[in-house]
Amino acid sequence: MASRRHILLINGPNLNLLGTREPQIYGSTTLHDIEQASQTLAFSLGLRLTTFQSNHEGAIIDRIHQAAGFIPSPPSPSPSSAATTTEAGVGPGDKVSAIIINPGAYTHTSIGIRDALLGTGIPFVEVHVSNVHAREAFRHHSYLSDKAVAVVCGLGPFGYSAALEFLGRHMKF
Ligand code: DQA
Repeated sequence: MASRRHILLINGPNLNLLGTREPQIYGSTTLHDIEQASQTLAFSLGLRLTTFQSNHEGAIIDRIHQAAGFIPSPPSPSPSSAATTTEAGVGPGDKVSAIIINPGAYTHTSIGIRDALLGTGIPFVEVHVSNVHAREAFRHHSYLSDKAVAVVCGLGPFGYSAALEFLGRHMKF
């Protein structure tokens, strides 16, 4: 049997606070809820899903490199640099077919994450829980959108499902 295509879901800074963070903007659904629902949906679509959240730009860049089979530099021993991931024992050969990424505030600042995505060549969908275009002007620019396969924003947690379903049903990879 063919192996399941592998999707990596990355959430950036402060998205670990979903559910309690500014609920009038982001709602009451937690990141754990989103990841659980995404795992269920991925399974039904015949995909393998790995989830990753970090508040650190370098950790996100390392994880993107790892997704392309590059060995990341050793992580800092500092507990404050901890990232959460659903998978154990990921190795350099554990490549992914596509990335779904909510880069949080790094959307608006990070050339490094843009370069990591372009440097690895992994197709990606950019997701935002809120409608960034209806918010402050500094949220209107994204360093990723012009290179994304698609951008989903303002659909709340459903945006993650939409991205996953799109990749599962429509992407040829
Ligand atoms: C966000 C929008 C960003 O502007 C913000 O910095 C976030 C979350 C969203 O999901 O709506 O942290 O990416």
